[in-house]
Amino acid sequence: MLEAKQLTKTFDNVTALDRLDLRVEAGEIICLLGANGAGKTTTINLFLGFLEPTAGNAFVNGLNVRNAALETKKYLAYIPEQVALYPQLSGIENLNYFLRLAGIRKSRSDLIAVLIEAGLDETSATRRASSYSKGMRQKIGIAIALAKNAKALLLDEPLSGLDPSAANTLCKSLLQLRDDGHAILMATHDVFRAKEIGTRIGIMKAGKLVDDLDASLLDAREIEQIYLAHMHDSNVTDIRSGAAA
Ligand SMILES: Nc1ncnc2c1ncn2[C@@H]1O[C@H](COP(=O)(O)OP(=O)(O)OP(=O)(O)O)[C@@H](O)[C@H]1O
Ligand SMILES: [Mg+2]
Repeated sequence: MLEAKQLTKTFDNVTALDRLDLRVEAGEIICLLGANGAGKTTTINLFLGFLEPTAGNAFVNGLNVRNAALETKKYLAYIPEQVALYPQLSGIENLNYFLRLAGIRKSRSDLIAVLIEAGLDETSATRRASSYSKGMRQKIGIAIALAKNAKALLLDEPLSGLDPSAANTLCKSLLQLRDDGHAILMATHDVFRAKEIGTRIGIMKAGKLVDDLDASLLDAREIEQIYLAHMHDSNVTDIRSGAAA
């Protein structure tokens, strides 16, 4: 569903992303871990067509984002760290507005049903978004993804700043979306949540994907150790062989 082939982005003399090869299939959650500046947001922005690659290509549903940026957006839902909403509009009105932009019309009762499915209660859905917490804003983002039936979700640090209960709710929504056959790519700094929901965990460093781990074969502690070993350029083989034993 999502594929990067030798995807590269340089800004002036900084290589933000260096020949990334990555696939995210339907029914998979790929979590990208990496230090600040590792290239995670750049990767997401290239899939969204917000940035033009310097070399290589990003594909969404088999379409090259370079040539079909408008069409590929139909298949994508994007949840940034801060979901931007119109403060004077209610949750229902915000959802309606963003869906109309995507060419989708829904009745008020359908909009409310989607918001409830995304975890927002009906009373909150009728309140102005100016009163929303961060987690409530993200539920609107999830509701947009659900209503668009986006085949792929791109999430950029959606968990940061969420309380444990809100993070848990978001992770449950993502697992449900995965089970429904969506492809999910999520940048995060949270190793434990990455282990909990990730099918695979990519570790990025200085624009390169330096590791690609099967989340089911490792526990969170091992993933953290492998991550730290990459960050400190030490040997990760011992941790891996320990995990396999
Ligand atoms: N618009 C830009 N102009 C110049 N350099 C940029 C731009 N966007 C990103 N970069 C650089 O590209 C590199 C990768 O940045 P990116 O935002 O992708 O990192 P990240 O992995 O998302 O980091 P973080 O964990 O802090 O969000 C960094 O060195 C950053 O300074
Ligand atoms: Mg980032």
